[in-house]
Amino acid sequence: MSKQATLTIGDKDFPLNILVGTENEHAIDISTLRKESQYITFDDGYGNTGSCESDITFIDGDKGILRYRGFDISELAEKSNFLESCLLLFNGELPSSSEIDNFKTKVFSHSSLPSSVEEIIKTMSGNTHPMGVLSAALQALGGCFPHLSTNTRPADIESFEEAASLIVAAIPSIAAKTFRSSKSENTPSANNAFSYCENFLHMMFGNESAESIDPAVSNALDLIFLLHADHEQNCSTSTCRMIASGGANAFASLSGAVSALWGPLHGGANMAVIKMLNEIHSAGDDGSQFIQSAKEGKSRLMGFGHRVYRNYDPRAKILKSACDQALEALGVESPILDIARNLESSALQDEYFIARKLYPNVDFYSGIILQAMGFPTDMFTVLFALGRAPGWLSHWKEIATNGKRIHRPRQIYQGSTHRPYVALSDR
Ligand code: CMC
Repeated sequence: MSKQATLTIGDKDFPLNILVGTENEHAIDISTLRKESQYITFDDGYGNTGSCESDITFIDGDKGILRYRGFDISELAEKSNFLESCLLLFNGELPSSSEIDNFKTKVFSHSSLPSSVEEIIKTMSGNTHPMGVLSAALQALGGCFPHLSTNTRPADIESFEEAASLIVAAIPSIAAKTFRSSKSENTPSANNAFSYCENFLHMMFGNESAESIDPAVSNALDLIFLLHADHEQNCSTSTCRMIASGGANAFASLSGAVSALWGPLHGGANMAVIKMLNEIHSAGDDGSQFIQSAKEGKSRLMGFGHRVYRNYDPRAKILKSACDQALEALGVESPILDIARNLESSALQDEYFIARKLYPNVDFYSGIILQAMGFPTDMFTVLFALGRAPGWLSHWKEIATNGKRIHRPRQIYQGSTHRPYVALSDR
């Protein structure tokens, strides 16, 4: 017999089922509690709430483990690449070489944007943040492919492969178009002779041949995308699932996820880290004054801390060494890298950070690499979105295929009780 928990409220007992995950995580299933007891549970910020069962990504935050579909992130970082990891996330298994070839062909066939999407990007890119442009462009892209964005579940599931390869192809094109339009420059056409990351660098920076792109740069970019590809129920992925639970298509769900990612506590942290490091640098601080102000609650050490990891974020560990290699290959001296290293070593020895189990997260080093590659700071979160797109798509697919109910949390109302309306003249 499976284990049960019992909740006692007053003199009544309520038996609750216990769910056990494949990695032996235990959860109390409270889905029938309200019906039986009139009570709901309260968990501000969802820190202790399992919102779904999922078989995509596993994180053990205490041990610093991250696995996509069972495969350890460090092994994928060493042996796989971004496009292969997309297929792993979408389908649950490592793809065969013909599946990879087929996917690449599909992705490359979609790298030119429809002209109406290009127009929207051009119009917005002067005064809208690139994340706002990306969110709007994804909606517009869905509009150009109505057969892939029907908001009819069976049809949208049927066309998932097509929609997913279109989105994976389109985000780099949208990013490059946004960047080039903001400088009133034309965007070079996609070049199918390049790899996925080479092509992105070519559209961004105009490299004419694969030889003109340092493999250290395109490999580091591919690694950054792979490391960001999924991270279970984070803010943007939960947003994507929430939107999808209402029956919305993948384009609309990803557009919302992009908005959720934008904030500085989530994906926007990679921009905030560079801003913080530059401010520390211009203030002539080696990082020690900043650490003090973070401890006093006057500032936040961006790129540090994580809701789930109470240990070193395994992605940060990989990126730290990639950062050293990429900067060496690019021949870039980065004064802010020294500050980052100082901040890290001081924080890791400081009682405040030790007691709260605050370690560097994925955003701590990624911005330094992207800056050295020549990406402007306000494009960093777009690159995070590019990397995270396969994760969002996989979660969209999971909920579209298995989701049973619309997501709809409850609340504890703490506002005014009933009161009569007061006429304007009497206020
Ligand atoms: N600097 C200084 N203090 C911190 C930091 C930080 N970066 N992060 C957490 N704390 C303190 C916080 O003040 C609190 O202290 P106390 O217990 O004295 O009130 C304690 O640590 C627990 O923090 P919390 O705010 O309850 O933690 P959370 O799980 O709600 O927030 C977080 C997680 C990532 C939003 C937060 O650590 C943070 O703001 N970090 C900086 C922003 C950042 O780097 N975000 C990227 C996250 S990783 C990529 C992604 O998922 O997008």
